[in-house]
Amino acid sequence: MFCFLAFALLVQTSLGSPLEKRATDYGTFQVDCKGSENACNNACYYIRCLAPNDPDNNKITYVGTGHADNDRNRIESGCQVNNPQGSSICRAFPFSQAFSNKLATDWQCDEWPPALSQQPAFGQKAVANSLRCMPGADNGSLGGKLGGFATKTHRMVRDDFFRVDFLAKIASADQNLVPFCVRQGATMCQPIGPGDRTQFQMTSKAISGGKVSSPYNDPNAGSNDNKYHIARTPYDNLYQCSVEFTRTGNATFNQIKLFDWENKEHRPQRGCALNNNGDSCDVPGLPQPLRLKRLGFFGTAVGFEYAPGTPMSNINQFDWDSDMVGTGRGPWTDPSTDPNRNPGRFCKVTPGSAASTENFDCWFPCYKKATGLP
Ligand SMILES: *[C@@H]1O[C@H](CO)[C@@H](O)[C@H](O)[C@H]1NC(C)=O
Ligand SMILES: *[C@@H]1O[C@H](CO)[C@@H](O)[C@H](O)[C@H]1NC(C)=O
Repeated sequence: MFCFLAFALLVQTSLGSPLEKRATDYGTFQVDCKGSENACNNACYYIRCLAPNDPDNNKITYVGTGHADNDRNRIESGCQVNNPQGSSICRAFPFSQAFSNKLATDWQCDEWPPALSQQPAFGQKAVANSLRCMPGADNGSLGGKLGGFATKTHRMVRDDFFRVDFLAKIASADQNLVPFCVRQGATMCQPIGPGDRTQFQMTSKAISGGKVSSPYNDPNAGSNDNKYHIARTPYDNLYQCSVEFTRTGNATFNQIKLFDWENKEHRPQRGCALNNNGDSCDVPGLPQPLRLKRLGFFGTAVGFEYAPGTPMSNINQFDWDSDMVGTGRGPWTDPSTDPNRNPGRFCKVTPGSAASTENFDCWFPCYKKATGLP
C-alpha cells in the first residue's frame, strides 16, 4: 500500500500537477488543397524554399480558441498594419499594386506560419513569414480547414500541436496554382516568371502595431513604416514614387514633377507635346524613365508606364492609366469632404485653374535603383 502510494506520488510529480493538461500531439493533418491553392502555395514556399532546414516548418502549436495571439501574429507577420486604419498589406498602396493583381479590390494577405500557430515577435523570428495576396475565399479556405482540424476534428486547446502535410493530397488541387508544392529540382523555388512578384516578406517593422502611411515613405527618410521585399530575391524593399503634371488641351503635358522613393522632387527640363492619340514620351528623373501615353482626347484617361519594356521583364516595370482603381489610400483620399474623392484610384485628376487644363497626381510602386537591387 505504502509502496503504491509512493509510486503514484512519483508519477504525479514527474508529470506535473494532475489538474494541468499537458500539450497533446495530434499527429499530421493531410490537408486537401482544392479551393485553397494560393494559400497552400504560400505555405509550400515557406516550407520548401524559405525554411527548408527548420524541422518545425510545418508544425502548428495552437494558440487556443479566441486567443488574442491571432491578431498579434498577423501584425508580427506583416499581413496586418494598423495605420492609418486597420488594414491588410494587400489593401495598401504601393504593395496592393506591385505584390498583387493591381486591380484587385477584395484580396487578403495570407501568411505561413498561420495566425493560429504560436509564433515569436517579428524581431525574434529566424525566418520572416511568407506572405502572399490572394482572393479572400482562398485565404479563408485554408484557414477554415486548419481551424476545423484544431477545433472540430479535435478539441485542441492552447499548446496542443500538429503538423500539416501539403503534399499527400496535392493531386486534388489545380496543379497550375501550387507550383511551390509540386515543382522539383534546382529551380523549384524560382519565381514563376521573370516578373513574378507575388511572394513577399516583411523586412522591417519599426512600431509594434505595424504601419504603412499614405503616401508611403521610405523609413530611412524618417518614417516608421513597415518595409517589404520579394521573398528570396536580391531585390530591395519596395517603395512608392509619384508624378504630377498639367495637361493643357489635347497635346500639351507640362509642369511635370517626379517624386522618388524618398519623396524628393525631380523636374525634367521640359514637358511633352503628344500631338496624336497613341503618342508617348519618356520622362527622365527617376531611376527608370516614366512613359506618358496620350490614349485619347482631353478629358479622357492618360496612360503611364514606369520602366517601359516587356511587361514584367524588369522588376520596376509597372503600367496603369489614370482611370484605374485598386485598393489603398491613394492621392484622392483626402479631404473626406471632397465629393469626388476615390481613395482606390491610382491618380487624382482635377480641373486646372485655366480653361482646358487638368491636373494629375499619380502614385506608383518603384525601387531606389534602376535595377531594383540595394
Ligand atoms: C485570412 O483568413 C483567416 C482565416 O479565415 C482570417 O482570420 C483572416 O482575417 C484572413 N486574413 C485577412 C487579412 O483578411
Ligand atoms: C481635341 O481634339 C478633338 C479632335 O480634333 C477636338 O474636337 C477637341 O476640341 C480637342 N480638345 C481640346 C480641349 O482642344
